[in-house]
Amino acid sequence: MCSFDSEVFAAAGQSHLLRRLDQLCGEQADRFQRDLAQLDLSCMQRLWSAEDQGEVQTAPEPPTLVELTDRAVRTEALSRGQALLAEGKVACLTVAGGQGSRLGWDGPKGTFPSGPITGDSLFAQFAGQIERETKRYGQTVPWCIMTSPLNHGSTVAFFEEHHHFGLDPSTVHFFTQGVMPSVDRESGEVLLAAADAIAFNPDGHGGTLRALSRSGLLSTLRSQGIEHLSYFQVDNPMVRALDPVFLGLHIEDSVSSGEVTSKAVAKRSADEKVGVFGVQDGQLTVLEYSDLDQEVCEATDDDGKLMFRAGNMAVHVFGLEFLDRLTNGTGLPFHRAVKKVPFFDDSTGTVQQPSAPNAVKYETFIFDALPLATRPLVVEADRAEEFAPIKNAEGSDSVQTSQLAQSARAAKWLAQSGVQFAQGAEGQPAAQLEIRSSTATCPADLALCELPEKLGAGERFLV
Ligand code: UTP
Repeated sequence: MCSFDSEVFAAAGQSHLLRRLDQLCGEQADRFQRDLAQLDLSCMQRLWSAEDQGEVQTAPEPPTLVELTDRAVRTEALSRGQALLAEGKVACLTVAGGQGSRLGWDGPKGTFPSGPITGDSLFAQFAGQIERETKRYGQTVPWCIMTSPLNHGSTVAFFEEHHHFGLDPSTVHFFTQGVMPSVDRESGEVLLAAADAIAFNPDGHGGTLRALSRSGLLSTLRSQGIEHLSYFQVDNPMVRALDPVFLGLHIEDSVSSGEVTSKAVAKRSADEKVGVFGVQDGQLTVLEYSDLDQEVCEATDDDGKLMFRAGNMAVHVFGLEFLDRLTNGTGLPFHRAVKKVPFFDDSTGTVQQPSAPNAVKYETFIFDALPLATRPLVVEADRAEEFAPIKNAEGSDSVQTSQLAQSARAAKWLAQSGVQFAQGAEGQPAAQLEIRSSTATCPADLALCELPEKLGAGERFLV
């Protein structure tokens, strides 16, 4: 017997869902009812009816960036951050619940082979860093990995298959984010993924907050003495998972409240598709590239540099107390994205692959936490050292560009250790290089390794 209130569904414009339920029986009906029970119809109605009422906001201004050019500031931050790590007060948080549709990889994105020589997966590369820092600081670093209901099982299975990459399994914490239904872009009706299933999508990386709290992980971390979370995305193998200088700045009272500190990289060009940091209505925020006028993107300062050049590389440190405060608040706002979503067509009884964007997905973004923080900080990072995301199957931000950047960084670190290289036509090292993250997370770590004096053209070198 159906326990859903038809008037509530009708008021929300979703009566088609109950009509579908009427057509199902047995297991299919049970399955569909479980999906229906997950819907928050009043929230969806609010989101749909608020659709075209964009808020008027003031023109953005560029943010103040911390540039780490002052050696003394750097050294002080380094020792503060190292002490924090040695006290075991930091955990890592990787958001890995996305669908990775642009990459088109059959599996969770973190399982994608990204090491230039080893073909190590993204997850393996992050695990190597955590292993390295655990040894260095003599403290366990809990690793929290956010999955979605769509990739949770395969993610956990991958870790089990690889014996958690040598990490103690009790220190790797998986938690699952929520989902939102995709709706038809014209009618707002919830789409079906199959005859007996709603088309759900993960609720965005902003879903981290609710998922951390609901899973009980936030309390677990607190009970383990963790005070700060080093947050990064699953797609950037060059990220510094635990950067002591960054952590040291984050906890420096005179510049930061210890609530949130973010890293920025200079945009390559005005049209690079990356969100930028800006100040709007007096608050630090991230402006999405799709929301920025061309004029704003291209505006330059007196030195001829882009005014809005501080690209968001999605690397943050969050204070646990701040996350606690946020998870007890009203939550982050939903954004709408018009996308192609395959859907079950009732009239033909088949799943259709749309050729044009047909659906609205609702997602929350973690960077919407920034305006809610007291004295958030943005620190400028060096792209060549820390940022080479794998977003696309080819072209920009693909595995090819990322592996070239990983190799180039390896060459720089090896050259600093005295290794000489045969040069390619454009001055780049002609050897193919990889430094395992479990070997070195900074150039100084190479002092412990046996290195060749010279690497000739075409040689492969893995350390
Ligand atoms: P992206 O914005 O690159 O999205 O996510 P995506 O889903 O990985 O890829 P596309 O857009 O479908 O090609 C940035 C980071 O946020 C995580 C992703 O796993 C990635 O680490 N993410 C994104 C989540 O954890 N959950 C989400 O709901 C969305």
